[in-house]
Amino acid sequence: MIKSRRRFLRNSSAAAAMGIIGCRQPSAASPPIFETPTVKDSVSETCIQTTRDLFGEGPFYTQNPPAIKNAVLAAAQEPGERMIIRGRLFNLDCSRILPNTVIDVWHANAAGQYDNAGYNLRGQTLTDDQGYYSFETIKPGKYLNGIRFRPAHIHFKITPPDSQTLTTQLYFEGDSDLPTDMATTTTRPGFEASERIIAVAPDLDGRLAGEFDIVINGTGIAKG
Ligand SMILES: [Fe+2]
Repeated sequence: MIKSRRRFLRNSSAAAAMGIIGCRQPSAASPPIFETPTVKDSVSETCIQTTRDLFGEGPFYTQNPPAIKNAVLAAAQEPGERMIIRGRLFNLDCSRILPNTVIDVWHANAAGQYDNAGYNLRGQTLTDDQGYYSFETIKPGKYLNGIRFRPAHIHFKITPPDSQTLTTQLYFEGDSDLPTDMATTTTRPGFEASERIIAVAPDLDGRLAGEFDIVINGTGIAKG
């Protein structure tokens, strides 16, 4: 249950207090604590295809970003609140997972500025053999789009080996600019953003942590 699982975590202060989010380790040997049997048993009820973002990749994408090293996108000296994003990549009915898939992420720094000359806060990672990905970064700042600030967001491009690239954006619950942003308020089919607005809460190390599962077209493999 992709959707309800995320909702459970959003609504569970106990989960955050216990460090469940922060304890997640994306490996076959030690599956995440909250990966319950209901995920496999009831996938058809709640498996929702991840939508594109209305603004697409935006104007600040830079081609050929470097690989994210050791799952850390933001250097230790990067100003801002540390944050970990984790998730799993599923096929369209969530019956299978997609390993070894390129996930390309980029975002603004804490001051709302992109590095358009270099590759700071830009990078690519791969899902592991069970479809998990994670990276540590800082919470992005906001920037003006016309007369309004865009809500804080992280850009994603996900490219399954046998299907089209999904270009989208991830947002954060409680952001005061969500209600006025075109991309987060659209009801246009295929672009509606509610499943891409995630909760983040401090883990045991004091870093924000959030979960963003992605459902995308692709063949994938059986879950381990
Ligand atoms: Fe952006």
